[in-house]
Amino acid sequence: MTDFIPGRFDAQVALVVGGAQGIGKAIGVRLAREGARLVIADIDRAMLARTQKEIRAGGGDVRTLYCDVRKKPGVDRTVAQIIRWYQRIDVMVYVAGVGKAVPFVQTDEKLWDWTLGINLRGGFLFARAVAPHMVKQRRGKLIFMASTNAWDAEAEMAPYNVSKTGLFILAKTLARELGHYGINSNALGPGLIRTRLSEPFLKNPEFMKKYQDLIPVGRVGNPEDVAGPAAFLASRDADYVNGVLLFVDGGQLA
Ligand SMILES: NC(=O)c1ccc[n+]([C@@H]2O[C@H](COP(=O)([O-])OP(=O)(O)OC[C@H]3O[C@@H](n4cnc5c(N)ncnc54)[C@H](O)[C@@H]3O)[C@@H](O)[C@H]2O)c1
Repeated sequence: MTDFIPGRFDAQVALVVGGAQGIGKAIGVRLAREGARLVIADIDRAMLARTQKEIRAGGGDVRTLYCDVRKKPGVDRTVAQIIRWYQRIDVMVYVAGVGKAVPFVQTDEKLWDWTLGINLRGGFLFARAVAPHMVKQRRGKLIFMASTNAWDAEAEMAPYNVSKTGLFILAKTLARELGHYGINSNALGPGLIRTRLSEPFLKNPEFMKKYQDLIPVGRVGNPEDVAGPAAFLASRDADYVNGVLLFVDGGQLA
């Protein structure tokens, strides 16, 4: 169930990086429905166009920007464009991510660099580009999409696990360093959520048999299950929440 809070983000500018589909899209939809001026940055042009159309059809204020989070000039251009449009950024949700299950002995440096490049280095690049504006504003919310894997190591997911733990400690570091500028920095830790990324796992009956027993609420999550907690962390209600990893996992880690 989703209870929208109309007007919660009125006049606020929110950037969702990796918001063309999946969890990021659900977060964008929610922020826009609650009044934010939303910007979605993503590498997938087709999904960006579809999502923009959908959000606009629902009355949301949204713009999209193509960006590959691995390329620093593109990251800097994205943030500069948002500042040209709105002169501020109130919320940045870093959601872009990839993950692939490969046994450790077959994990090569290409898979390592790809995973950490998108999941962790991209988060650093965006935080580095956005933070100076939030410091100037004396206000801002940074939210990083980690995972239960930031806490609980999943076999055959070494680069992914490391990238998500890295994002969490990045969020905590920024919480310490930027808190006195009115900036909150937190991470979210979804469990298994039904998206394109998790499809190979969802389609694996052996994996699902083992996994479903691990989730006390008895179901796999939907992207919308993550959107509410993300909106909370982005809101004034979370002004005193700083440096946490908020699990959204149906109790998997309980
Ligand atoms: N689905 C799950 O079960 C689950 C669980 C925990 C955490 N997460 C995390 O949530 C985030 C979103 O995942 P999802 O499940 O919605 O997957 P998804 O594949 O639906 O969405 C990922 C988005 O990131 C974008 N992206 C990928 N590479 C990019 C790049 N180089 N530059 C810019 N954008 C890029 C994709 O185009 C896509 O829109 C990821 O960080 C993922 O690790 C997912």
